[in-house]
Amino acid sequence: MRAARGVKGGLPVRPLGRTGLAVSRLGLGLAAVGRPGYITLGRARDLPPARTPEALAARTAALCDAAWASGVRYFDAARSYGRAEEFLARWLTRRGIAAGAVVVGSKWGYRYTAGWTIDAAVHEEKELSLARFTQQLGETRALLGDHLDLYQIHSATAESGCLEDERLLAALVAARRSGACRALGLSLSGPTSDRALALALAARIDGEPVFDAVQATVNLLEPSLLPLLAAAHAAGLGVIAKEVHANGRLADANDRPGDAGLVAALRALAADAGVAIADLALAWVVGQPQIDVALSGAATTAQLAGHVRAAALALDPDTSAALARFAEAPAAYWATRARLPWT
Ligand SMILES: NC(=O)c1ccc[n+]([C@@H]2O[C@H](COP(=O)([O-])OP(=O)(O)OC[C@H]3O[C@@H](n4cnc5c(N)ncnc54)[C@H](OP(=O)(O)O)[C@@H]3O)[C@@H](O)[C@H]2O)c1
Repeated sequence: MRAARGVKGGLPVRPLGRTGLAVSRLGLGLAAVGRPGYITLGRARDLPPARTPEALAARTAALCDAAWASGVRYFDAARSYGRAEEFLARWLTRRGIAAGAVVVGSKWGYRYTAGWTIDAAVHEEKELSLARFTQQLGETRALLGDHLDLYQIHSATAESGCLEDERLLAALVAARRSGACRALGLSLSGPTSDRALALALAARIDGEPVFDAVQATVNLLEPSLLPLLAAAHAAGLGVIAKEVHANGRLADANDRPGDAGLVAALRALAADAGVAIADLALAWVVGQPQIDVALSGAATTAQLAGHVRAAALALDPDTSAALARFAEAPAAYWATRARLPWT
């Protein structure tokens, strides 16, 4: 089994499904720090005043250093996270971390189009085609080289047709066979994610399952995929949870007027448990047995330190049951998410 073997006294480690890769239960996602604009809620407060490439490269390196020291052994990027792949590659090289000592995932499908601005008309442009895959695999490999373990379709949907595109699926499998990546995955987004996951589970080329791992939104407000993710896990897929803080809505700092009741109710439960709202939210996700790795989307090392502590929290059954009552209807959850501004 590759990676995370030597972590002693750090975060617990698990196999990522049948990939042959081993991951820490907490991973670090770089969506918030690879580019100046994103949809989380407190960016003006939590990022350097001038979000220059140098400042965000330094923030990424500080987060990666803190994550590594805590035992984090899964790092998640994407072609569209601005310069996240490049910042991660620079950090891996500078720290002398060899391929195989860490598990690195990235994603293809979206092109970054914001030109390092916060108020771009279009931040990302999506195309889940064979041509885009071929182009972006080359770009990712040029930056991450043999560190690339898991290559994921970014927000694959049933409607896009990509999960039934035989030529594309064959090219994905060929990339895995050639060693360009070690495992294939897809990430999911939106209220029809269940249909995409069902198609992914069925996808075969020459009888060989195409996908080894799935990355899905799982949080207190949007837990609807958990039963299907349990089935995926039982079928041998690695399961990665993203957006565990609902893009910052599940944190004490959330001051969205529409979430005032939510935050007050969660604050009371968190106070009873003696932790912060964000800790409760993360601990609840890590406590789901079908989740192999939950992603921290930390923008600061202080947030990350809280996430590392929370990953070790065992919630009592009463608290877990109380937290399960915060689920929103998926359509309502995704409509709110679609309204979060890029800042
Ligand atoms: N479709 C996809 O494939 C997809 C989509 C989304 C994410 N992802 C992956 O999942 C990772 C995490 O997702 P995400 O960052 O979008 O969502 P998230 O983890 O739900 O939210 C992260 C944000 O929540 C806020 N936060 C976290 N802990 C906090 C705390 N203790 N106190 C206050 N605020 C806190 C921070 O935002 P502020 O500092 O701005 O408040 C942080 O940037 C990404 O980095 C990426 O790797 C993948």
